[in-house]
Amino acid sequence: MRSFAFLLVILAVALACPSQTGFKAPQKRSVQHRVESREDVPRNWLESGLVYQIYPRSFQDSDGDGVGDLKGIISRLDHFVQLGINVLWISPIFKSPMADFGYDISDFTDIDPIFGTIQDFTDLTAAAKAKGLKLVLDMVPNHSSDEHEWFIKSVNRVDPYTDYYVWLDGEQPGVPPTNWLSVFGGSAWTFNEQRGQWYLHQFVAKQPDLNYRNPLVREELKNILRFWLDRGTDGFRVDAVPHMYEDPTFPDELPSGDPTADPDQYGYLIHDQITWNRPETYDVMADIRQVLQEYEDGDGEHRVMMTEAYVPLENVIQYYGNESFRIADFPFNFALINGISNCLYYCNVTARGYPYNGTQLRDTIVEFLNAIPSWVGPQGANWVLGNHDQRRLASRYGEALTDGMIMVQMLLPGTPVTYYGEEIGMKDQFISYEDTLDPQGCQMGPDRYEKSSRDPARTPMQWDDTFNAGFSTSDTTWLPMGDNYLTVNVKLQKENLISHLNIYRTMVALRQEASVVYGSYDFPIVDEDAFTLTRIRTNSTSYVVVLNVGLQERRFDLSGVTGIPATAKVVVRSIQAISGETQIGFTINTSDFPVGAQEGLVLSFLGL
Ligand code: GLC
Ligand code: MG
Repeated sequence: MRSFAFLLVILAVALACPSQTGFKAPQKRSVQHRVESREDVPRNWLESGLVYQIYPRSFQDSDGDGVGDLKGIISRLDHFVQLGINVLWISPIFKSPMADFGYDISDFTDIDPIFGTIQDFTDLTAAAKAKGLKLVLDMVPNHSSDEHEWFIKSVNRVDPYTDYYVWLDGEQPGVPPTNWLSVFGGSAWTFNEQRGQWYLHQFVAKQPDLNYRNPLVREELKNILRFWLDRGTDGFRVDAVPHMYEDPTFPDELPSGDPTADPDQYGYLIHDQITWNRPETYDVMADIRQVLQEYEDGDGEHRVMMTEAYVPLENVIQYYGNESFRIADFPFNFALINGISNCLYYCNVTARGYPYNGTQLRDTIVEFLNAIPSWVGPQGANWVLGNHDQRRLASRYGEALTDGMIMVQMLLPGTPVTYYGEEIGMKDQFISYEDTLDPQGCQMGPDRYEKSSRDPARTPMQWDDTFNAGFSTSDTTWLPMGDNYLTVNVKLQKENLISHLNIYRTMVALRQEASVVYGSYDFPIVDEDAFTLTRIRTNSTSYVVVLNVGLQERRFDLSGVTGIPATAKVVVRSIQAISGETQIGFTINTSDFPVGAQEGLVLSFLGL
């Protein structure tokens, strides 16, 4: 009986955790203070818009199998219209064995049956277009699935696929050709018996790295992009860009000296310029832009490109390209995740009880704005508060700061990027090891999985207070539902005037105001406990966000701030706010007003 129970546990673990794990190294940064104010003009629908990331497995299930799908997304498009969102980025929906939940693709030009069919995709594009929504797909160039026919042919040395992947002989039997590690942990090499060689995989073994030194592979990528552009796609988010090239001399990597990394963990070695962050990646990104440009030249409609690269800021910025050739519309800016507080990888919660201070927040923002090339300008910035690889906003900063961070994100120059559920303050859900599915969590084993698993931030969208929060009619959903869905859901927050959702919607609407589109920005009052952001345009309705990062109520005096008059109107405040002095619609004296602990306020006034 005991051994039977034990077997069951093993089986559950095996089912839950089929493969491997690791973590992404934190970035180093240096801060200089320099703020410029200028008139910005958005160049296109991305710069004037807002990107919303849909993790399709978790958005809306239409067929009752417990996994979200394309028909489900179609049924929820009004959600975006109501919130003023114009750009949808959908995590991979292509054919996949789901070893990394769609980031392991076995056919780049087909839809996985779990999500639907090509016809469903065509329907989605048409429905989105009819509602004025742009659709951005998630392209994964670094690797395919080992079940892709290219890989199967490559194993069998069928030309031209023989060199589509990175194959190497080892020096001794059983010993990988180099000491390289997978991002998810363990060797980055797996021996293939049939071919008698090792293949490289920077992620799990089921994600063999494509060989971008082979010109045919670069052509394949372009043709895949064209396939989806022909079907109405408005652009791409490009995945795992820094991993695309390796040093062709295959040297071993040096130890990083990071005491928190075990020898089989990614952080144990220094990857820079060897397996990561090599200059050749910019050439492939330029290829992608060229393809997008073909389509843009065809119909005059802008096509977008967002690059995912967790690299040092100076390298992030290079993905913008140069003045005569813009590559990415934007390289994702992860500064508000990695630069401040990231409890997934290293938690900065201080003795003060909260993860950041006002000065740090300002410095992190200014550092990015200052790094943007002048020919791009601040309107080409972007602000990511969460994604499917990170702790959720409300869990990382704490629930009380959620509204304040949304206020800041929405009024900064540049494009906000919202991860599904952020608009209602969804939190990370505890997931037991038995229920863990993410390869990045599984590899760590039961004692350490919690630090690495990305499952907690991937639970189904919470639409209402009915069964499975309205996400699915299935008895079991692919990941458990967040256990707070009775109180944290879209329906309730729509009905309740004081809610994260209503704050979100109001803030999105403010982005259309002339002062926010064209006005100057500044951070006039900043200290350990305070952060302020102004968007001022003379004679236009202008705004200031006042955020009290501290744990005590505090009174503010903005009377010395250029452009702010003696009185202002309260337009938005965090849901926990209780002061009778700062109710929505009240006029307050800007020389003296209270802001509660971790509370954000948005005031409006006629810019002087
Ligand atoms: C990117 C994705 C992540 C995925 C990895 C491998 O970092 O965001 O989810 O696991 O690439 O494709
Ligand atoms: Mg489904």
